[in-house]
Amino acid sequence: MAVGDLSERLQRLTLETLDDQGFIPTTTSLSLDGTNVEQSAMIGVLKSLQTYGMVDYDTLEKERWTLTSEGEDIVERGSHEVRVFEMIPDQGIAISEVEKHLGEAGRLGQARAFKNKWIDRKDGTFLIKKVKSVSDETRMALAEIKGQGEFKSEEILKELKKRKLIDRQRVLSYSVRKGPKFARQLLKLPTDLTTEMLADRSWEKTQFKQYNYNALGLPTSGGHLHPLLKVREEFRQIFFEMGFTEMPTNQYVESSFWNFDTLFQPQQHPARDAHDTFFLTAPKTCSRLPDEYVERTRQVHQEGGYGSIGYKCEWKREETEKNILRTHTTAVSSRMLHKLAQEKTFRPVKYFSIDKVFRNETVDATHLAEFHQIEGLVADYNLTLGDLIGMLNTFFSKLGMTRLRFKPAYNPYTEPSMEIFAYHEGLGKWIEVGNSGVFRPEMLQPMGFDPNVSVIAWGLSLERPTMIKYHISNIRDLIGHKVDLGMVQKNPVCRLDK
Ligand code: PHE
Repeated sequence: MAVGDLSERLQRLTLETLDDQGFIPTTTSLSLDGTNVEQSAMIGVLKSLQTYGMVDYDTLEKERWTLTSEGEDIVERGSHEVRVFEMIPDQGIAISEVEKHLGEAGRLGQARAFKNKWIDRKDGTFLIKKVKSVSDETRMALAEIKGQGEFKSEEILKELKKRKLIDRQRVLSYSVRKGPKFARQLLKLPTDLTTEMLADRSWEKTQFKQYNYNALGLPTSGGHLHPLLKVREEFRQIFFEMGFTEMPTNQYVESSFWNFDTLFQPQQHPARDAHDTFFLTAPKTCSRLPDEYVERTRQVHQEGGYGSIGYKCEWKREETEKNILRTHTTAVSSRMLHKLAQEKTFRPVKYFSIDKVFRNETVDATHLAEFHQIEGLVADYNLTLGDLIGMLNTFFSKLGMTRLRFKPAYNPYTEPSMEIFAYHEGLGKWIEVGNSGVFRPEMLQPMGFDPNVSVIAWGLSLERPTMIKYHISNIRDLIGHKVDLGMVQKNPVCRLDK
């Protein structure tokens, strides 16, 4: 029977029964054409009739005894002990015969019939009757329980339960009465306002179906945010709270110039090797670079300047033109700082970015060839290491990390440089959380900044805090073709313990 069809017939049955009897006292289920209708269909029908105001109902919750399938079987065919008893003719019968016919019921029934003193053994292998007739108390008790859900003797209930013939269950029942708009016939109220109703003004007299504000929507099946996106959003909010502006990061392909040279990274630096960096084959090189700035960059690398002696090595244009996949978002910071330096008068800024970078790494449980970096920078007059430490304390305390430690480090573009460690309350240990430093004059001054402008900056990965937050130990469970989409759909929202 189709679902719509069934519920229509159920509605009709409910209304007609109500009309005939005035009231349906308690009903656990409705039976339609001799088949029992499921409770869920029943409640659906009552709810929908109620929205029309045609019925009202109360839900009653009660416990009652119900029969197990073995109990049902006994109501149908008699108890095991009676079936054994009835199989025995006056002259007796072989035990093997009883067990052959009744199987497990034969064995159980024998034991009980012995206990009831109904039968006896003869010559070891024969059963004979000890009484003329017996009555099937078990079957009668079960039949009564089936109808009433109760039985007068607690003792028998306890025993039947022990024999796994009955069970206690919670059942819902409904007492149904007529509603204010009761009618024997279901009238279908319109749900939508149509153009015709507006045109002929019939809407004024039309009775519309009431909205059911309690109905739950269907769960959505698409559009789930990946954990990385959720954590990224939390970081963005922290930067926004601190007055930072987001930098445009929509450029995965970068020239070596912006990724390395502007950052005073020497052309012989091992990170610029094909073992660490992905080089593009087409287009292999980048043709548009700001020539004057390229020249100042060459000078500072090769000859020095701004108080520096430089690297004293030949600096090659063809090296700087090589296209690569950016290895850090500091390339973006460099572009943005250069742009800022071109403005007529210097203006302090706070910038941040969160996006993807690429490194030619051997893939293992915690490393992929691509990951996301979170980077923040502040440019202002006379910023010091103290300003950087203060900034980092504010930033990480917003992530719930209030105890920081710093370790001297090296980056070609910062001096001094510090690795950042934080005490993670959840993990109960110190973990490395990022890298930071004050950008070198060899980087800032060729861009055009005054010597008294300084820039403090720090960077961290997005994957590490995400894996800690979502208890993911293998990076391949977070990103890539082996990711379980169920994980993406089910993972909770990210709330950092701020
Ligand atoms: N670019 C550095 C890295 O890739 C992070 C960093 C950013 C360090 C800014 C100092 C200043 O690890």
